[in-house]
Amino acid sequence: MTIAIRRLSNALGAEITGIDLSQPMSESIFGNIHNAFLQYGVLLFRDQNITREQHIDFSRRFGELDDHTSLPLDRHPDYPELLMVTNRPNADGTPSESRYTGRSWHTDFSYTTHPALGSLLRCWQLPEVGGDTLFANMTLAYDSLSDGMKKLIADLHGIHLSGTRKINVADAGSARREEVMKINPPIAQPVVRVHPETGRKALYLGEKVRRFDGMTEEESKPLIDFLNRHATRPEFVYRHQWRENDLLIWDNRCLLHQALGDFDETQIRHLERTTVKGSPSGYVVAAG
Ligand code: SIN
Repeated sequence: MTIAIRRLSNALGAEITGIDLSQPMSESIFGNIHNAFLQYGVLLFRDQNITREQHIDFSRRFGELDDHTSLPLDRHPDYPELLMVTNRPNADGTPSESRYTGRSWHTDFSYTTHPALGSLLRCWQLPEVGGDTLFANMTLAYDSLSDGMKKLIADLHGIHLSGTRKINVADAGSARREEVMKINPPIAQPVVRVHPETGRKALYLGEKVRRFDGMTEEESKPLIDFLNRHATRPEFVYRHQWRENDLLIWDNRCLLHQALGDFDETQIRHLERTTVKGSPSGYVVAAG
């Protein structure tokens, strides 16, 4: 098996070709994939018609998998390692709980004390057009700040909230939000973090952050807004246009991402995600 690597954008991302994830993979091939993961942040594997078990097995090579206790309503009924990202209605005809997952800039599970190392999202079914996902490179975003701004934010902690969906629907939205917020109290995370494997600094914010620890929302907002706007400038972003049987892995330790919702919601968009556990990080703060 010889793999090839093709960059997807200037900011981040690479496609890996010459690999069939349903087949056994040697340590040396996996080593090349892992190095590419650290270098490019997002890896795309097209045409991977794999089973759920194969998806889970490949994901485990990156580390221990989360069982998604922080989002119990969105778990696959038979596979706790799989998180549903779908607008396919439930068997009883009620709307899927996960149909608005990821519709703001975020990094997975930043509102827990075990934020995700990586996520592997597999695409099963797509609308006719759209349903894209954006990724933004937080290392580039940090590096391009002025020295003065780097000094200003060096010791700040942003408070990450669960239940911050931009879209909350009357039927299932508020009950789900309360459930998720009960399980996940607000967590303070450093605004600047160091990637444990590359040693590079990255910005750590996103739209789940409303204030800095020790400051009010009003005081925090101008700086949070500036940093989020800066971090998601088009030159730091890759836009992924999905195809069925894509498997995409991203490094949550140095990226933000957002599902765009740019599709006709009467059509089905069905993806499933494994989440690789990261190192413990952050501390609980009182709500408010
Ligand atoms: C996610 O945030 O895990 C979902 C992203 C997507 O649906 O594109």
